[in-house]
Amino acid sequence: MAAGENGCANDFSKYEELVASSLPAYQQGIGSSPYRKYEGFWYPEHLLAPTLMMRDTFVARPADVILATTPKSGTTWLKALVYCVVHRGHHAPADERHPLRASSPHDVVPFLHSIYEDHRSASPGPLLEGMPSPRVLAVHAPLTALPASVRESGCRVVYLCRDPKDAFVSLRHYLDEIKPKGAAMTPFAEAFDLFCDGVSPFGPVWDNMAEYWNESVARPEEVMFLRYEDLKEDTVGSVRRLAAFLGCPFTDEEAERGVPVAIVELCSMDKMRSVEANRDGMHRDDYLSIKNSAFFRKGEVGDWKVHITLEMARRLDGIVEEKLRGSGFSLIDQP
Ligand code: A3P
Repeated sequence: MAAGENGCANDFSKYEELVASSLPAYQQGIGSSPYRKYEGFWYPEHLLAPTLMMRDTFVARPADVILATTPKSGTTWLKALVYCVVHRGHHAPADERHPLRASSPHDVVPFLHSIYEDHRSASPGPLLEGMPSPRVLAVHAPLTALPASVRESGCRVVYLCRDPKDAFVSLRHYLDEIKPKGAAMTPFAEAFDLFCDGVSPFGPVWDNMAEYWNESVARPEEVMFLRYEDLKEDTVGSVRRLAAFLGCPFTDEEAERGVPVAIVELCSMDKMRSVEANRDGMHRDDYLSIKNSAFFRKGEVGDWKVHITLEMARRLDGIVEEKLRGSGFSLIDQP
C-alpha cells in the first residue's frame, strides 16, 4: 500500500488550515454550532477536515459496503439492518449474544469521518486496514466528496434519504438534545429559513439526494437508493432487496426460518430502544459526547405536521420539487 493511503497524522492539519481559511461560514448553522461551505455543500465545521481527508486518502475494497445518508434520514436504522444482513452468517439475529443486543449501531458500523476525526493525531490507517472484510462503513458526505476508490473498487453503496420536512424536524430535536450545556439554538423559524436556503449538515439535502439518485441510475449494480418512507412501509421487503443488492440474498431455507423477519424485529425501534447501550450509553468522539438515546425518537412518517405549518411545508416541498425537477424522482408527501 502506498504511503499516505488512509491518511497519516500530519495530513490533518493541512485540511484544518483549509477549513479555517476563506471558506464561507455560518456561526450558528441551524442548531448551535458553526457550518462551513465547501464545493457547494454545507458541513458542520468540525466534520469538514475529516471528510476531506477521508475523500483524499481512504482506500475502499471491492467487498466494502458504504452507507450514505444525510443526518436524520434513518442512518442508525440502516446501519443496524445492513450489519445484520451482512453478518448474519456469524451472528444470527435471534442469537442472544448478537452484537446489536449489547452495542449501538454506531459502534458496529462507524462513520468514516468519525474515524478520521478521532485519529487526527495518530493515523486512521492501521484501524481501517485491520478491519476484516466485508467492512460496513458510513458517511454523510455528498457523492462528490466520496473517495475515488469507492467508485473504482466497485464496492456497494447504499443511500438512504427521507422527506426533508421530517428530516428537518428530526434534526432540530436532535440538535437541541445534543447542544453543549448553555448553548443557544438558532430560533426555529430562522433555522427553517436556513434549511430552505440549503444550509443543513451535508446539504442542501436536495443536492445530496440528486447526486446519489443520478449515480444509482447510472450504476444500479453498485449504488442502491432507498427512502425512509419505503423502509417503514415494507421493511421486510426492503431488507430482502438489500440482501440481494449486497450479493448475499436470503436463501429459501432462510426465508422459511424467518431470518428476514427476525432481522427486522431486532432492528425495530422498540427493540433498539430497549438495548441498554442505546438507552443509557454515550456516543463519543473528539468533538461531542452524545447520548445514544438521542438517535431514537419517534421514527414516524409525517411527524412534521406536528411541528411546522402547512405554509412552511408547501414552501419546502416547492423548493425540493423545483430543485429535483428533471431528475426522475420525487419524494414529496403532499400536505
Ligand atoms: P425522528 O426524530 O423523526 O423520530 P439518524 O439515524 O439518521 O440520525 O435518524 C434518526 C431518525 O431515525 C429519528 O427520527 C429516529 O427516531 C429514527 N429511527 C431511529 N431508529 C429507528 C428505527 N429502528 N426504526 C425507525 N426509525 C428509526
